Amino acid sequence: MKHLLSTADLSRDEAVGLLDTAARMAATQSREIKKLPTLRGRTVVNLFFEDSTRTRISFETAAKRLSADVINFSAKGSSVSKGESLKDTALTLHAMGADAVVVRHWASGAPYQLAHAGWLDAAVLNAGDGTHMHPTQALLDAYTMRRHLAGRAQGLRSPHDDGVGADLTGLRVAIVGDVLHSRVARANVALLHTLGAEVTLVAPPTLVPVGVEAWPCRTSYDLDATLVDWQPDAVMMLRVQRERMSGGAGAFFPSPLEYARYYGLDARRLATLPEHAIVMHPGPMNRGLEISAEAADSDRAVIVEQVANGIAVRMAALYLLMAGDRSAEGNDL
Ligand code: CP
Repeated sequence: MKHLLSTADLSRDEAVGLLDTAARMAATQSREIKKLPTLRGRTVVNLFFEDSTRTRISFETAAKRLSADVINFSAKGSSVSKGESLKDTALTLHAMGADAVVVRHWASGAPYQLAHAGWLDAAVLNAGDGTHMHPTQALLDAYTMRRHLAGRAQGLRSPHDDGVGADLTGLRVAIVGDVLHSRVARANVALLHTLGAEVTLVAPPTLVPVGVEAWPCRTSYDLDATLVDWQPDAVMMLRVQRERMSGGAGAFFPSPLEYARYYGLDARRLATLPEHAIVMHPGPMNRGLEISAEAADSDRAVIVEQVANGIAVRMAALYLLMAGDRSAEGNDL
């Protein structure tokens, strides 16, 4: 694996390998000295053309815990705002000796351009491109599900273990909300399918992407029926991405009030879930729109844990892409 661009590119073995490596990384983070020497002398560039809190800080923390040098580049305040192209930005990073580039871009496909145009000799990690993909978010989501729910569909219970080797076969995951604009939904559907889980997307008809019939999942417009009749093991609420909605077909319909009533997760809907079910959200949350404060702060919610798990998952991704042969031996963890 040279780049991490899409969860759709991952084989089952690669996905499980990433999750197992993340579990080993997480184990090192409970030590008194958290830093590993693995990427000493290597340079990771965080190249962010769109705002981010969790992903950017998490990648920075992960790279530093592996002893890499980290350069944070934000389009705001850089020469991009003077019109510099992606190519010239990439050539500048190449000249500075980047070994890995973590890129978030508003344009779907931008990380592919960076990975394959020949401008850089570096591993490219997609930190979210347009409405397309967010592979490390899906990996940290799967990691979180493994810790809480792995084996449940087979009648086994292994909550809160490290999830190593755990299987998501038969797990039921409802992904709810603004699927149309969600790279998190696309990344999760592909990865959860590879890992054997069943997914139902729940959204208003105006927020379902064209061509969703070809995705490896079910689609429903009815949240109550999905929760009550299907009894999912995990419910992943998606952020309503109002910044990606403009007039015409992209307008926010239903209205915020209708949206919260028909598609919001609140205490009443939470009570219809199985006792073991977990509530997830990639963040940032619109409290009171797609999720009520009561649901977000309930003991079913693993939203803060998702953020924490992101560090181990991103350490694993950087390690596997950058440590070369050493990662196969796993001899420096
Ligand atoms: N989940 C996620 O991508 O959050 P940020 O936009 O804060 O990085």
